[in-house]
Amino acid sequence: MDHHPLRSFQTSLPKTLSLFFFSLFLLFSSTTSAFDLATIPFNDGYSHLFGDGNVVRSADGNGVQLLLDRYTGSGFISSNMYQYGFFSANIKLPSNNTAGICVAFYTSNGEVFEKSHDELDFEFLGNVAGKPWRFQTNLYGNGSTHRGREERYRLWFDPSRGYHRYSILWTQKNVIFYIDEVPIREVLRSEEMRGEYPSKPMSLYATIWDASNWATSGGRYKVNYKYAPFGAEFKDLVLKGCSTDPFQEFSDIEGCADQNTHLEAQEYAEVTPIRRMKMRRFRQRFMYYSYCYDTIRYPIPPPECHFNLAEKQRFKETGRLKFGGSHRRQSRRRGRNTTPVDENDQNDM
Ligand SMILES: *[C@@H]1O[C@H](CO)[C@@H](O)[C@H](O)[C@H]1NC(C)=O
Ligand SMILES: *[C@@H]1O[C@H](CO)[C@@H](O)[C@H](O)[C@H]1NC(C)=O
Repeated sequence: MDHHPLRSFQTSLPKTLSLFFFSLFLLFSSTTSAFDLATIPFNDGYSHLFGDGNVVRSADGNGVQLLLDRYTGSGFISSNMYQYGFFSANIKLPSNNTAGICVAFYTSNGEVFEKSHDELDFEFLGNVAGKPWRFQTNLYGNGSTHRGREERYRLWFDPSRGYHRYSILWTQKNVIFYIDEVPIREVLRSEEMRGEYPSKPMSLYATIWDASNWATSGGRYKVNYKYAPFGAEFKDLVLKGCSTDPFQEFSDIEGCADQNTHLEAQEYAEVTPIRRMKMRRFRQRFMYYSYCYDTIRYPIPPPECHFNLAEKQRFKETGRLKFGGSHRRQSRRRGRNTTPVDENDQNDM
C-alpha cells in the first residue's frame, strides 16, 4: 500500500467533508421535525361564510373546496373567535389561468369591531397562464387601515401542484407567518406599534374572490371565466387558541392566560436560530416588496421598521426592486388591503 502523505490527505478530505455534511444534516433534520399539530374536521370548527353552493366539503369531512365561478366566490369562517392562537391549513391553489383571483387565509374581527378592527393576512394572487402565483402578508391593528403593512413575495414551489401548510401564529408577544415550517415574517409587539398590534379576539377566514381590479399586475389582467370554476382546496385544519366571546371581555381571562402560556410553549412559537436563518434566506430571495422600504408611500418609515441591510440592498431608494422591474411605474390609487401597483408584479423573475 502506498502511504504517501499527499494521498492520505486526499482521502481524508472527503471524509471530513462528509462528516461536515452529515452534521449539517443532523442539524437540519433535528429541527425540521414536523410541528405537533392537532387537526379538526371542518364541521367542528368552521361554517360557510358566503357563496354557499361553492363551499364544497370533502367526503372525509377534513377539508373543503372553495370555488369561484362567474356568479360568486366563496368563503368559510371559524365558528368561534380567538384571543391569540395558531391558525393553519394545508392549502392547494387553483392552477393555470388564475389572473385576477385572490385566495385569502386570514384572521380578522372586522365584522365585530368595524372602526377598530384587527387583521392578519395571507393573500395569494393569481397570475396569467404559465406565470407563478404571488402572495402578500399584511397586518392591521385597532383600525389602522390608513397604514398597510404589506410585504409581497414569490414562492419557492408551485402552490397549485400540491398542498402546503400555511400558518399564522398570533401571541401577545409576536406574530409569525409560516409556510410549511419556514417562518417567512415575524412581527414583534413593540413599543413603536402602540395600539396597532392586534389584540382583540379574531375569527379565522378563508375566501376565494374576484380581485380583477388589483390582484394581477395592478388590475391589468382580469379573471377569465372561460377557465372557471376555480377551486382552492383546504384540509388538515388547525385551530389552536383561546376561544373567547368578544362581548364578554372579562369572563375568560384566567382560562386564556393558561392557554396562552401553552400556546407560547409550542415549538412553532419560537424562531430558533436555524429557523431565523431560513427566514432570512427566504426574505432575501423571495421578498420583492416591503412597506418598510417604500419611501413613496412612507417618506418617513413607520416606527416599527428596523432595516435589515441585506434585505434593503435589494431595493432602490423608492422601495422598488433593483433588478428585473420594468421602468414604467404605474400608479393607481386603490382602497385598503392593496399594495401600490408594483412594476415587479409584471415580471416573472
Ligand atoms: C393546466 O394546463 C395544462 C397544460 O396546458 C393541462 O395539461 C392541465 O390539464 C391544466 N390543468 C387544469 C386543472 O386545467
Ligand atoms: C384603539 O382605537 C380606539 C379609537 O378607535 C382608541 O380609543 C383606543 O384607545 C385604541 N386602543 C389602543 C389599545 O390603542
